[in-house]
Amino acid sequence: MKLGVLKETYPGEQRVALIPALVANYAKLGFETLVQSGAGAGAFHTDEAYQHAGATVLPSRAAVLERADIILTVRTAGANPDFEADLPYIRVGQIWMGFMEPLYRPQGVAQLAKRGATAFAMELIPRITRAQSMDALSSMATIAGYKAVLLAASLLPRMFPLLMSAAGTISPARVFVIGAGVAGLQAMATAKRLGASVAGYDVRPATREQVESVGAKFVEIPLEVAQAETTGGYARALEEETLRRQQDLLGEHLVQHEVIITTAAVPGKCAPLLIPRRVVEAMPTGSVIIDLAAEWGGNCELTQPGEIIQHNGVAIVGAVNLPATVPVDASLLYSRNLYHFMAHLHKVGMLPEPGSAIEDEIARETLVAVGGSVVHPRVAGSLDTG
Ligand code: NAI
Repeated sequence: MKLGVLKETYPGEQRVALIPALVANYAKLGFETLVQSGAGAGAFHTDEAYQHAGATVLPSRAAVLERADIILTVRTAGANPDFEADLPYIRVGQIWMGFMEPLYRPQGVAQLAKRGATAFAMELIPRITRAQSMDALSSMATIAGYKAVLLAASLLPRMFPLLMSAAGTISPARVFVIGAGVAGLQAMATAKRLGASVAGYDVRPATREQVESVGAKFVEIPLEVAQAETTGGYARALEEETLRRQQDLLGEHLVQHEVIITTAAVPGKCAPLLIPRRVVEAMPTGSVIIDLAAEWGGNCELTQPGEIIQHNGVAIVGAVNLPATVPVDASLLYSRNLYHFMAHLHKVGMLPEPGSAIEDEIARETLVAVGGSVVHPRVAGSLDTG
């Protein structure tokens, strides 16, 4: 079996799905590696480094697509608008791996299915203990949470830490992080390390302990939500009325902070709107909002994905694809997650040929297309609802 590693084509994407250090690990599983020339350049891995590791470097994307049995990507299908250019090369039975936005933009998976490809979406790795080493969303969210704080610190017209000097005392910046999932907790920890006074909030009460464990203060918002959490540990989408009440109650806290980092997300749904325009207009001028949910509609009403806008003296950053701005570590973590996943599929007999009776939960949850159809019920459901 030949693995193909492509140069990413999503605008600004610097990550690569396989770093040279893992070529030998794949060889031990019996895979030969083909790499498109320049695939690792954005993450500072040269063609020579891949060759030295035992891979074959091919001059063009077409050459890799034509020869490889399994295509390793960072962003493909729904996660990359340029994916259509690859469609003519996709063969029946070719296996595609990568982030595909299967629930939010499922048409990409449908196109893979139509070409007869088998596809595994990395977003769907279940968040269970057994799959932790494969959980690429968590790895990337950790990086995004960290980078969000650095962005905020560089845009804020003040310092983060408390500073005592002969000229007087500077009080610490007040940072409020909404959503205490992977990205949010890392943002809190990073802001704390920079010396800010940090508060955190999540609709799931179970997160209080985690917020406090990274040194942040948990903000209590009295909402009556019978079951804030699914059995999978994710938040449920709130009813409209509850969400409006949440906006009002949160607003009282938001105006007391000068840095807001929002990470609230419910998988497969648009991001909840937590910061309406009126709250932005009540915030102190010079404040900064970093909206990590920008790609899913944004947690702030004024967010524009990929842009920094100013509104009444408040900077609103529609942060997209932050992991790509830390390409060395993001590629390292992603490559390892993908390798662990591939090794797992190999072990449970899903590679090289995916079986039809899928006993294994990790394989079943991530397999989105096989045999010409979209086989994942939630992805098929997203396609139906458009
Ligand atoms: P996660 O699922 O671990 O955390 C999301 C948190 O939001 C959960 O703890 C959930 O309880 C909370 N939440 C949901 N609805 C809420 C509400 N109404 N009020 C308060 N909290 C609510 O997700 P993760 O991995 O931390 O990612 C967070 C967000 O960051 C996602 O939208 C993800 O797509 C995004 N992200 C953005 C990147 C970028 O470059 N912009 C990169 C990586 C992730």
